[in-house]
Amino acid sequence: MDRIRIRGGTPLNGAIPISGAKNAALPLMIASLLTEETLELVNVPRLADISSLLRILENHGVDHMIAGKRPGQTTETGQTIRLSARNIIDPCAPYELVSTMRASFWVLAPLLARLGEAKVSMPGGCAIGTRPVDLLLLAMERLGVTIDIEAGYVIARAQNGLKGGEIAFPKVTVGGTHVALMAASLADGVTVIDNAAREPEIVDLASCLTKMGARIEGAGSSRIIVDGVTRLHGATHEVLPDRIETGTYAMAVAMAGGDVVLENTRPELLASALEILSRTGAEVVSTNEGVRIRRNGGGVAAVDVTTDPFPGFPTDLQAQFMALMTCANGTSHIRETIFENRFMHVQELVRLGAKIRLDGDLAIVEGVDRLTGAPVMATDLRASVSLVIAGLAAQGETTINRVYHLDRGFEALEAKLGRCGADIVRLRA
Ligand code: EPZ
Repeated sequence: MDRIRIRGGTPLNGAIPISGAKNAALPLMIASLLTEETLELVNVPRLADISSLLRILENHGVDHMIAGKRPGQTTETGQTIRLSARNIIDPCAPYELVSTMRASFWVLAPLLARLGEAKVSMPGGCAIGTRPVDLLLLAMERLGVTIDIEAGYVIARAQNGLKGGEIAFPKVTVGGTHVALMAASLADGVTVIDNAAREPEIVDLASCLTKMGARIEGAGSSRIIVDGVTRLHGATHEVLPDRIETGTYAMAVAMAGGDVVLENTRPELLASALEILSRTGAEVVSTNEGVRIRRNGGGVAAVDVTTDPFPGFPTDLQAQFMALMTCANGTSHIRETIFENRFMHVQELVRLGAKIRLDGDLAIVEGVDRLTGAPVMATDLRASVSLVIAGLAAQGETTINRVYHLDRGFEALEAKLGRCGADIVRLRA
């Protein structure tokens, strides 16, 4: 298995182009199942999760075409993918495929909308917690779907088609809101989604569905109203910038020091994280291209953080922020409220010399003068990248194992950081 080796202690200087958002691209690709016509997605990142989802969609009969490179494009510029679900040939999403990526469970909604039935494997547990799908199933039931669970599969049927209905989520769920939006778009009648997730990726999906002919109001607020239509058509849509990638590199600069412009991104997508970052002492300036992050000389102030659904501080940046806090002047309290088991990076940060104590959903991080490189590994994407950030600031050599986690969600990570002066290389197995 590949590893990444970092020799830390060099500040980062230069520019990093931000890719299209993985967590927007995945539901957008799944939305292609909603129409017989072609959905063209622009700025899709080159990531392992995208390739896995293409395989899953192929299994349902979706044809895809990846456009060739254009002048000036590099492997770091997103790709254009055309997806055509003219004939869905298989309503079943098998365990072998769904277990590789949780988001693929979301095919449930368009399969129901197009075929009136779906058989999708339960996704099972994952490294960051149990992550049930009860709320996704609740949303489908509210739209007239009957659900049976048999041998690890959800068997869903909408005998008389999907019917608009009222969905009130007892808890904010991104996946639940995505599936509700997709199903409601092709349901008969009006659907009201209350306590909807307000994440930018929800707004991006709603905007693409609207281009495809859906009638959606209120995306980005906690009440979304969808007036179902009988069919959706093809469209072209550009995936929004990755706010988590933006925040990750912003924290890397805040920790390692330096001056970097994060290009092709939108600071308002991560306002809460950037505000917290500026309280740590980093300079954060919105520019025409994106956002500029600078920290020269001064120390890192300790700041407390609680993760929350958007517009709060994202759980997907919690591990990266913790890496930064390991070298703060003082003690920071980091509370994780979204997932019950998202502290897998703690033990690895401790191996680099961090002082972190866990108390339930709270991590108490006592800043140390410096971290020292060591071999580490992590069990999920964001945890792995928090070790990259820590390794960039640590003295000496850090090797990160299980690089496939990083490949799931960070496009051209070594190239992007390397160009800013980081000593980072991939060691092929
Ligand atoms: C999305 O996951 C993201 N994944 C996650 O990013 C992100 O961490 C999460 O939203 C929260 O922002 C994608 O977009 C592909 P949820 P999702 O439904 O939709 C509980 C990454 O690193 N819940 O908003 O699965 C759940 O257990 C990934 O890129 C139920 O109880 O998250 C969690 O505690 C990791 N029942 C909370 O709700 C359900 O039926 C929020 O989960 C569904 C969720």
